[in-house]
Amino acid sequence: MSADVIDGKAFAANIREKVAAEVARMKETAGVTPGLAVVLVGEDPASQVYVRSKGRMTREVGMESFEHRLNDDVSEQELLDLVETLNADPKVHGILVQLPLPGHMDSEKVINTIDPRKDVDGFHIQNAGRLMTGQKSMVPCTPLGCLMLLRDRLGDLAGLEAVVIGRSNIVGKPMAQLLLNERCTVTITHSKTKDLQAHLKRADIVVAAVGRAEMVKGDWLKPGACVIDVGINRLEPEPGKEKGRLVGDVDFASASEVAGAITPVPGGVGPMTIACLLANTVTACCRENG
Ligand code: GUN
Repeated sequence: MSADVIDGKAFAANIREKVAAEVARMKETAGVTPGLAVVLVGEDPASQVYVRSKGRMTREVGMESFEHRLNDDVSEQELLDLVETLNADPKVHGILVQLPLPGHMDSEKVINTIDPRKDVDGFHIQNAGRLMTGQKSMVPCTPLGCLMLLRDRLGDLAGLEAVVIGRSNIVGKPMAQLLLNERCTVTITHSKTKDLQAHLKRADIVVAAVGRAEMVKGDWLKPGACVIDVGINRLEPEPGKEKGRLVGDVDFASASEVAGAITPVPGGVGPMTIACLLANTVTACCRENG
């Protein structure tokens, strides 16, 4: 293996320490405890795991955690009413509605009902527009975490060739926008891209967020590239095992022979997402309370 393995777990622990210090300062100087409300609708097992660990880490940094669990047959209006209540609650500085929502709900409508100042996911149309136009905004947590890792590894990103694989509103599009704001030359590729390998061969930076297990192979990469793997995919269990292994969108074994640096799965981008959520909540609280 030639690539350096980027330790997202350690980097995220460092961010959480800084968040905890800032929370303590807010309590001391302004008498305010930053609060994060997380809303989970339904019983999706993966979402339940995420929500539980968000709650635990929120409390660990000294913030208040408010969890709201609704049955999946709740009406859209009831959810919108809850969001409005949280918008008006001075103890709540950040609101996250866990996605995906059940099929009978309009996710965009729900997200756009969140007060943009409390939209710690950065998904509200106002925050998306602000990011697009280079204005101060709440930045979606996963792309923000990826950018921190890239800046730490590469320093100034200006002029670098970046390829983002995936065009989702949660990761691909905001990631591309952040890299553009850093003055990278950015290409967004996706499942219908004709010759992904031709794009990757030029890429100094690769961010893979396509949701296909081990899709990107080492010999597709430019030697020395910095590879950020956002994918979390569970493989079929091996014989005798109950659960399959977790892998990313990049074939780690072959990619780490060619890349200059690479994030592992697990332990790369995943921990950064929650750390950035906590950081966004403190930012939201500071904007309101100084
Ligand atoms: N579901 C998967 N990732 C996310 C995320 O970052 N935020 C929310 N709200 N839901 C998600």
